[in-house]
Amino acid sequence: MNSPVAPAARYSPSLRLLHASMATLILGNLWLGLSLESIEPISRKFQAFSWHKLIGLVVLALLVARLFWRWRDGAPALPNSLPIWQRLAAHIGHGLLYLLMCAVPVSGWLYHSASGLKLRWFGWLSMPNLIAPNPALKPLLQTLHVGLCWTLMLVLLLHVGAALKHHWWDRDLPLGRMFSWRG
Ligand code: HEM
Ligand code: HEM
Repeated sequence: MNSPVAPAARYSPSLRLLHASMATLILGNLWLGLSLESIEPISRKFQAFSWHKLIGLVVLALLVARLFWRWRDGAPALPNSLPIWQRLAAHIGHGLLYLLMCAVPVSGWLYHSASGLKLRWFGWLSMPNLIAPNPALKPLLQTLHVGLCWTLMLVLLLHVGAALKHHWWDRDLPLGRMFSWRG
């Protein structure tokens, strides 16, 4: 994190801030999602579900902002020393993460909508349902949401593993490209 990085070889401040805040929300929501079933009593469980869904929708909103800033600011070039297959792996991996950041909350939202539940936060903020109540579709959408969550966890394991390997072992992509307080 303290490695010197040329200013041009760093993501823009907005992209760094969005990466850090979205990573925190997504990792927190993965943990919350996995804990949902074991929460007692039922009133706390209902509250936890409600927070889980709200956090998921915030992630979706931040993703829209992030895609805009990514289009506007671009990404720092990868060093030429990196083998072509590693560049390709980085592009595919990052693309997959963007896709999953969209597909995971949308599948959850579809699953929630198929259940026919109505949700309202803080007494005024309500979430529109994406599809009409559909009990026949519920199991499929549940499997989709859960399957996409586990895919995300697997890709994240590779993503964080690769980031740490390139920082500590290969020393060719410092974490400071994405994590740095400087403007
Ligand atoms: C908490 C542990 C995490 C670490 C240590 C980490 C680390 C990094 C680093 C170092 C980069 C820059 C790669 C480069 O040098 O080009 C990066 C990029 C990226 N990270 Fe993470 N990350 C983490 C969590 C996440 C999470 C939870 C997500 C979303 C599900 C995510 C999505 C991305 C994406 C999409 C990029 C590519 C950005 C772009 O080029 O637009 N990361 N991450
Ligand atoms: C960042 C976004 C999200 C993440 C990371 C996430 C993650 C998870 C995880 C890890 C689980 C538990 C999976 C398992 O049982 O193995 C889960 C369950 C669930 N999620 Fe999400 N979720 C997100 C967004 C949403 C949204 C936006 C909704 C609805 C609006 C939602 C609704 C649900 C529901 C209803 C369950 C319970 C599934 C069941 O009955 O087994 N999620 N989520």
